[in-house]
Amino acid sequence: MLAAYYSSFGGPEVIKLGDQPAPLLGKDEILVKVRASALNPVDYRLRQGQFQWALRRKLPKLIGADFAGEVVQSNHPDYRKGQAVFGQVSALKGGAHAQLLVAKPHQLAPKPDNLIWEEAAALPLVSSTVVQSLRDWVKLQSGESVAIIGGGGGVGTMAIQYARHLGATVTAVGSTGKQSLMEELGADHVVDYTQERLTGQYDVVFDAAGQQTWSEGKNFLKKGGRWLTLQPYPKYYALMALTWFLPKKLKVMLNRVNAKDMQVIRELAETAILQPVIDSTFTLEDVQKAYERLESGHCAGKVVLLH
Ligand SMILES: NC(=O)c1ccc[n+]([C@@H]2O[C@H](COP(=O)([O-])OP(=O)(O)OC[C@H]3O[C@@H](n4cnc5c(N)ncnc54)[C@H](OP(=O)(O)O)[C@@H]3O)[C@@H](O)[C@H]2O)c1
Repeated sequence: MLAAYYSSFGGPEVIKLGDQPAPLLGKDEILVKVRASALNPVDYRLRQGQFQWALRRKLPKLIGADFAGEVVQSNHPDYRKGQAVFGQVSALKGGAHAQLLVAKPHQLAPKPDNLIWEEAAALPLVSSTVVQSLRDWVKLQSGESVAIIGGGGGVGTMAIQYARHLGATVTAVGSTGKQSLMEELGADHVVDYTQERLTGQYDVVFDAAGQQTWSEGKNFLKKGGRWLTLQPYPKYYALMALTWFLPKKLKVMLNRVNAKDMQVIRELAETAILQPVIDSTFTLEDVQKAYERLESGHCAGKVVLLH
């Protein structure tokens, strides 16, 4: 089958599109013909060699976690041939930027009826990250205030929508070109970081861009406030334990796909509470160009591939 993969670590130029063995269907698993897939920073960070210690499989490595497509064969009673699904396989394993992939039942859900393929593919990883971050890790409450750093990115565009849904007052930080998008998504206040600095104090600061440090971020917290980072560095895990006993807490989260949250995301999409934001669409053949776009670091929402 045709798939995107790499045989050495490096920049987008090491990505190849070529013939790779089709995945084998195991017990309870679902074989999907991929119609669209989405890119995430974890995909290029793995390719750059950042988390080599976590890669159990040897090179060549398939790429991509987020997908939407049609079931072609199912060994699970909840899924049937021809059904439209969307989901998220492990980025460590990869395989979403391919003609076919095999998913486990907790990694997918029926596709939201109101979304086209590329919109559905754009949702899973960033949406589950946001839901797990704001609902579970910082327990954002109605009436609280949240500052979202990187409000125009893949995670940030979902975070603004979900924080508003939870009833929080949202301040979103992004570059000049992101201001109107962040307002349209529901931000109460917007900050252009190229012109001004974030001010004030918040119940929650969500660094959805990996741009703040704890030393900076804690200054923007009220007493009892929570600062959340998506950067899973050992120093942050140590600080998370340390701040457990302090009035201002650091939280570091790592996304974990699960069946319950895939259903939650589907419902949030079908009720238009979470609307996918697409920066750009490329064909699978242009996968290198798509990664060059994402790796510019300034996308407005998601980069997706149409297969
Ligand atoms: N822990 C986890 O499970 C997990 C899950 C998902 C993502 N992540 C991580 O979270 C980060 C963001 O992911 P993503 O998918 O949202 O990436 P993305 O789509 O590339 O978005 C990053 C956003 O940050 C903005 N930005 C850049 N510099 C900024 C600054 N100084 N201040 C405020 N905003 C700034 C960028 O646009 P502008 O500069 O134009 O505003 C862009 O919109 C990545 O590091 C990713 O690896 C971790």
